[in-house]
Amino acid sequence: MEKSSSEDEIVYSETIDLSNVEEENKYLTQAINKLEEENKVISNTLNKLEQESSMLRELFNNVNNELNNLKKPALLVSEVVSIKDDKAIVKLPNGNKFYCYVSQDVEGLNSGDAALVDQKSLNIVQKLDVNENFEVEKYIILEKPKEEWKSIGGLKDVIQEVREVIELPLKKPELFEKIGINPPKGILLYGPPGTGKTLLAKAAARSTDATFIEVVGSELVQKFIGEGAKLVKDIFALARRKAPTIVFIDEIDALASKRMETGTSGEREVNRTFMQLLAELDGFKHLGNVKIIGATNRKDMLDTAIIRPGRLDRIIEVGLPDEEGRLEILKVHTANMSLEKIKKKELVNLMGGFSGADIRAVCTEAGYFAIREERSSVTHEDFLMAIDKVYRDEEDDEESGFFG
Ligand SMILES: Nc1ncnc2c1ncn2[C@@H]1O[C@H](COP(=O)(O)OP(=O)(O)OP(=O)(O)O)[C@@H](O)[C@H]1O
Ligand SMILES: [Mg+2]
Repeated sequence: MEKSSSEDEIVYSETIDLSNVEEENKYLTQAINKLEEENKVISNTLNKLEQESSMLRELFNNVNNELNNLKKPALLVSEVVSIKDDKAIVKLPNGNKFYCYVSQDVEGLNSGDAALVDQKSLNIVQKLDVNENFEVEKYIILEKPKEEWKSIGGLKDVIQEVREVIELPLKKPELFEKIGINPPKGILLYGPPGTGKTLLAKAAARSTDATFIEVVGSELVQKFIGEGAKLVKDIFALARRKAPTIVFIDEIDALASKRMETGTSGEREVNRTFMQLLAELDGFKHLGNVKIIGATNRKDMLDTAIIRPGRLDRIIEVGLPDEEGRLEILKVHTANMSLEKIKKKELVNLMGGFSGADIRAVCTEAGYFAIREERSSVTHEDFLMAIDKVYRDEEDDEESGFFG
């Protein structure tokens, strides 16, 4: 009986109007085609988004890693006084001793070794191979520079003064002995970035055939807490060994800046490094063959102790070049360029407020414009475009508060 009822249904369905079904079918195929197309578009978009997302993820990871590295606190360099199993007594740079734990990863630590200690917990996290890590030559640049006085544009008076104070006593100390005066032990160059301070120091070294030791103040105090003062000592010992020497201390404000109070251990550390620098300055002779040139963009920040008589007591401003200076700098930097006819006066006029470094950048950019168009010489137009570019780059930097 049941069977017959299902047969009934079949019979009923066969009575459906076929033309209608065909139309519906057509309609459905069309709809399916459309959906398939849409599907393709969507999966394309999806692929793109996935690619983008993986790129962004990678970028995020990189930035995150960088951030984590920046967040890591500096480690204290300290001395292991004694050690037993996973515990040790360490002596910090300030002389205080602590009983602390030794991290499991640290192997082969003996008393007398130097170790890196976490600032908060004071646990030993790494053994430090002193000879390997603190060879002073790794923290400085030591060279025989090639820059000559004639590669400096403008700055006539400044050059004259640097030569009198640095070059003359090194070359002709007898002049000073005869007259009976003491030349300054060193000078302080101050002024905006890119105005030629480093260049002057290098030219002074070159003209006296002196060893040039460059130290960057901020690096000295940031690299490893606890070693700044020792590094200063080692640097001057090296300077004496390699004499005649010019020690160039860039960003000297990082070492010798005015501080309200010396509260944190970081500040005390800077202070110790600074005291060592003063001690070194006081320790050597006016007519010795080691000279110091300090440089800073922030003269107002300097602790006056560094510029007291007998220390860096000749203070020289290295300002932005005037029109004549800019012309000379432009000449220096275009001397080896292959040029069409260019109107230097007009260019110099357009570069008001540019530093020597900016003018050099203009020359480089102008050269690039020529190279991009596969020309073999640089035109006035190239320079105009280059000035515009350097000008705009500068503005961007200012907007982003770079020199704020
Ligand atoms: N007076 C100049 N004559 C020729 N070139 C210059 C002059 N001033 C700057 N320059 C160019 O700019 C570059 C950077 O200059 P330098 O490093 O001497 O500036 P700085 O005053 O030490 O700057 P910072 O304060 O940023 O250290 C030089 O290598 C040189 O190519
Ligand atoms: Mg410099």
